[in-house]
Amino acid sequence: MEPKKETENIMEYSDFRSDTVTRPTENMRKAMAEAEVGDDVLGDDPTVQKLETMVAEMVGKEAALYVPSGTMGNSISVKVWTQELDEVIVEERAHIYNMESTHMTFISRVTPRSLPSNRGAMAPDLVEQNIRRPTVHIPRTSLICVENTHNNWSGAVVPLENLKAIREIADKHRVRIHFDGARIFNACHATGIPVKEYAKIGDSLMFCLSKGLSAPVGSMLTGPKDFIDYARRIRKALGGGMRQVGVLAASGIVALNEMVDRLAEDHRRAKQLALAIAEIPGIELNPDHIQTNIIIFDLKHPRISIPVFLEELKKRAILALATRGGIRFVTHKDIGDEDVERAISAFKEILV
Ligand SMILES: Cc1ncc(COP(=O)(O)O)c(C=O)c1O
Repeated sequence: MEPKKETENIMEYSDFRSDTVTRPTENMRKAMAEAEVGDDVLGDDPTVQKLETMVAEMVGKEAALYVPSGTMGNSISVKVWTQELDEVIVEERAHIYNMESTHMTFISRVTPRSLPSNRGAMAPDLVEQNIRRPTVHIPRTSLICVENTHNNWSGAVVPLENLKAIREIADKHRVRIHFDGARIFNACHATGIPVKEYAKIGDSLMFCLSKGLSAPVGSMLTGPKDFIDYARRIRKALGGGMRQVGVLAASGIVALNEMVDRLAEDHRRAKQLALAIAEIPGIELNPDHIQTNIIIFDLKHPRISIPVFLEELKKRAILALATRGGIRFVTHKDIGDEDVERAISAFKEILV
């Protein structure tokens, strides 16, 4: 295949940086243009209401709230479930702990206690040992955060059995669970487990419309009605109350109706890419670890460093990200078979 060359136009790159780069589909744009809207802060936007009702029903929770981003959904959740001086158990590579600008301390004034894991699955007995009862010296553990699929573990699917065991411990100690399910539908596709089963693990569940589901903006926070009522107030306090936001929510409805099933294609392409590049000397990657749409690998090459490799890819109109543990490639709607083939050829050209 003819290698593409670096270009000024971002649309011309094979953009593997993230599934957040997906552009809205034609059906989304049409739905957005035609959306019936009102003032959502005043509770009048019928399209937002439709999306929230649809999502609550879909995941089996009492209520749902449309929020501008996954980070805001996670930060609101921590704020609602905790009090100042509390401690929150997180997995050590979790997005909520590493990649969300420290909102736990900044907004909720709680301390994260990070635990190691087996590719995102924290050992239940370790979780239990780290639940703390407050004294004058010691904080109260009020919340456990879980993430599935796990971004920084290369899109790993955390086993449902592990999550259920953590749920049992949380119940025993009366601690809440917030489930960061930014890519929960990727987990559902990879395992065949219905979203409602995963949703039962969390007192609250957040998922993103703006990643593999390709909506331009937006995430959903779900949970009990009183949790969502309070979450709505916190969203407003954080500046996340939006007015005729039905124009965006309309894209979320299309995302859920039309874009969930195609995630399997992204998984297939990620696996194909992983299997091909794992063969190349210098690439440290176990393709068995690639279960969904994220590939993270290390590069140990005698001549080529990670920044140089990314530059060389860019010259060939391929974009990827440097991340913890090496380099990240993510497949998504705007990555087709030809992008995967181009990436494989570029790897060989640069590294072999
Ligand atoms: C696992 C996980 N949680 C939360 C988020 C935050 O979502 P947003 O970028 O919409 O704030 C991300 C974003 O990549 C993520 O990967």
